[in-house]
Amino acid sequence: MIKYIDEIKDLKGKKVLLRLDLNVPIENGVVTDTYRIERVIETIDFLRSEEAQIIIISHCEGKESETLAPMWRYLNGYFPVQFSETYFTPEAFDKLLKLENRGVLMFENLRNNPGEKENDLDFAKKLAQMADIYVNDAFGVSHRKHASIVGVPQFLPHYGGLLMFQEIEHLSKVFHPVHPFIFILGGAKFETKMPLIKKYLESADCVFIGGALANNIFKEKGFEVGTSLISEGEFGIKKMLQNPKLSFPVDVTVLKSNGSVSFKGFKKPSASSADSPMRREKSDQVEKDECIVDAGPETIIQLKKIIDNAKTIVWNGPFGNFEKGFGDKTEQLAEVIANATRPTEQSFGRASQGTVSIVGGGDTLASINKLGLNDKFSFISTGGGAMLDYLVNETLPGIEALEK
Ligand code: 3PG
Repeated sequence: MIKYIDEIKDLKGKKVLLRLDLNVPIENGVVTDTYRIERVIETIDFLRSEEAQIIIISHCEGKESETLAPMWRYLNGYFPVQFSETYFTPEAFDKLLKLENRGVLMFENLRNNPGEKENDLDFAKKLAQMADIYVNDAFGVSHRKHASIVGVPQFLPHYGGLLMFQEIEHLSKVFHPVHPFIFILGGAKFETKMPLIKKYLESADCVFIGGALANNIFKEKGFEVGTSLISEGEFGIKKMLQNPKLSFPVDVTVLKSNGSVSFKGFKKPSASSADSPMRREKSDQVEKDECIVDAGPETIIQLKKIIDNAKTIVWNGPFGNFEKGFGDKTEQLAEVIANATRPTEQSFGRASQGTVSIVGGGDTLASINKLGLNDKFSFISTGGGAMLDYLVNETLPGIEALEK
């Protein structure tokens, strides 16, 4: 059982080492998607209201530069935050010593220290020595066995933060879903999504595979996929295709090598040919010089029918190639799911079952944000890979470390 921060007695004057996931998109030194940061403000506010001294540690990677300075500047708009560029130096210790109750000190990118990713126990111990209590509110990186996630809790009393609580509370509903339950998966890399697909083909009523993942299915069915992105490997797709719960796009958007865009349909099999590869009209075929870059319009119409009938909807991963500018089917899907979401309502002592929607994943969140739909879903997970791993394994290394 995880203990959460609201169970800690007497935080006044205690140094709290707060692990956050502030790995957010940056452009020209400015945070362009603040969603993940906003979700941890509640935890910091809580710790400040209890007069704790807060030490924030986080990572970032793959950004225009490997610094947390933009995230620090953004947080500084909420409350005063000091910044330490170095760890374990006289300057850093000085800042730690001068930290006051309600004060916040943020350290530079954890991954500047090789010990972080190596889960070096000496590094974890040194981090732990900076504080009295450790709090993990970094669900989004809790699938990593890194020092600040699984090492530090071995040396300090440890607790989950308020965001960690919400993530576990909402995502675990997927393990006991109200039916009909549709699981929608987009993005790429079949190899990483395979365990998820297998698991939810058992518990969901429909597993819909979109994005570049669907290209592997088209290929397995013998369709021409042109120059589309394919995950190399076999993955047991042939067997999966026999499962009637598995569904995928009926049409796609293709980009020709000359830059023109069109929609290509895949003709549905007749009842008698359900087990044989789908047949296509000649005019519907994807050609050798074409690249599948998104789902097609008919796919969204068909998917809407399933979604409107569902009581549990889980979605992770985009349908289109965002880098090439194909985000519109992902956005349409976001709107369809948002409109289908309904709270459970009580009237005259009777509950009318609502529709729960749980969504997550980087590009998925970008679409939701762009459309201003943030409040329309039952829950938005701040995890990308962490959400997927949690949905497969029903736990994460960072969660297990808090339970010990
Ligand atoms: C994420 O953005 O998904 C998390 O911050 C984890 O980042 P990582 O994949 O670099 O470990």
